[in-house]
Amino acid sequence: MTYDTRRIGLSLGADICWPICYTEILHQLDLRIPTDGTTLRFEAERMTIEPFDLRQPAPYSVVIDRLTHWYHTTREWIKKAVLMDDVYVFNNPWSVQSVEKHTSYAAMMKLGLPVPDTWLIPPKEYAPQQDLRETLERYARYFDLGEIGEELGYPLYMKPYDGGGWRGVSRADDEEALRAAYEMSGRLVMHLQAGVDPFDLFVRCVGLGPQLRMVRYDPSAPLHDRYTMDRDFLDSDDAQILRDMTLTINAFFGWDFNSCEALRGSEAWHPIDFANPCPDSQVTSLHYHFPWLIKANLRWSLFAAATNRPMRMNLDWAPFFEAVDEEMTLKERLSATAAIARERFETDRFEEFCHEHLAHLDEVTHAFFGTDMARDAVRQKVAAMYPPHEREEFTELFWARIQTWRTEEANNPPTGP
Ligand SMILES: Nc1ncnc2c1ncn2[C@@H]1O[C@H](COP(=O)(O)OP(=O)(O)OP(=O)(O)O)[C@@H](O)[C@H]1O
Ligand SMILES: [Mg+2]
Repeated sequence: MTYDTRRIGLSLGADICWPICYTEILHQLDLRIPTDGTTLRFEAERMTIEPFDLRQPAPYSVVIDRLTHWYHTTREWIKKAVLMDDVYVFNNPWSVQSVEKHTSYAAMMKLGLPVPDTWLIPPKEYAPQQDLRETLERYARYFDLGEIGEELGYPLYMKPYDGGGWRGVSRADDEEALRAAYEMSGRLVMHLQAGVDPFDLFVRCVGLGPQLRMVRYDPSAPLHDRYTMDRDFLDSDDAQILRDMTLTINAFFGWDFNSCEALRGSEAWHPIDFANPCPDSQVTSLHYHFPWLIKANLRWSLFAAATNRPMRMNLDWAPFFEAVDEEMTLKERLSATAAIARERFETDRFEEFCHEHLAHLDEVTHAFFGTDMARDAVRQKVAAMYPPHEREEFTELFWARIQTWRTEEANNPPTGP
């Protein structure tokens, strides 16, 4: 018997808990997948940072990347590995580098999604730069912030065009607050966005390849309670809209792993923040949802490694725009664009693969999350984030939530990926 071992590179930063769980479950799955006269085996390995020769082949079939949105040596290595060595990486590194919130809003507005009305305004202050004064003196038009505020209506949100992690976000309830927020905004290039107000539901929909998890999100809660453990908070119509929206966004931008935030206003679901490639994967935020993430990560990376899934080298947006027209309702548009997304994520082939080769994943994961090793992974992450006197309490809290997940899953076994 000959073996072909496919290696999965883990490109990690401050990640502690998920790689421990991922690697151990992969080991316990003990996969041997017969294919083309050989048997596929899989290994996960933590990647290191070192000088590299551009012509030196990359040893990985797949890279799960947690670094490149801010660590550029790895980002450039990944770009060369995709171009030269046929490595599959989630997410598309060129898209991560170039698509900010702003582009994501513009593209989804063009597809007809009800992104709240949004303006972009020039920054309040600038770093000194050659030609800056001349350019601004010639071309920067004075504008009246109050007029834009009035046009958008209050409340509105001021937030960076390339935002993330709540940096620089403020809510303005009137013109005075808007002016004060702008005064404080410094060099940040800001969006002003109409507030979805009131809204009765805030959902964060996490996508990993074609797999989705919808979580009711509570932005006002402390970090460990923002992902709620609520179930059944969406009827099937709403769930369909959010599923199609997230799949469309993720396939459009080449983001295998991304999360989409949407608010349910009086008439529609409004996506407000969906350029989050490489979202939070830590047990300290995800707790109850953490085992889902580990399973979804394993399924999608193993599928990509086993099938030598080719990386889409360019994003190819035209088919999405061609699939929609003026006459269509939101549901019809999303259904048309999500069909393209499902195809790009090879959804049928993926489900078949999981059914055929990963049928024991649920059982292995369920058992693993009852072990000391899993508890220790949670403890290690808590120890890295909390002061000593809170460590026991928070380890217990997150562990108890994972045990709730185990009980619920045992009583109500999943039926597919
Ligand atoms: N248009 C809006 N209507 C209502 N609330 C909004 C709107 N835009 C932003 N918010 C609120 O502000 C918060 C932060 O905004 P947003 O998610 O766009 O920024 P972010 O920096 O990407 O945040 P994070 O990375 O934490 O998701 C949201 O979670 C939401 O509570
Ligand atoms: Mg957000």
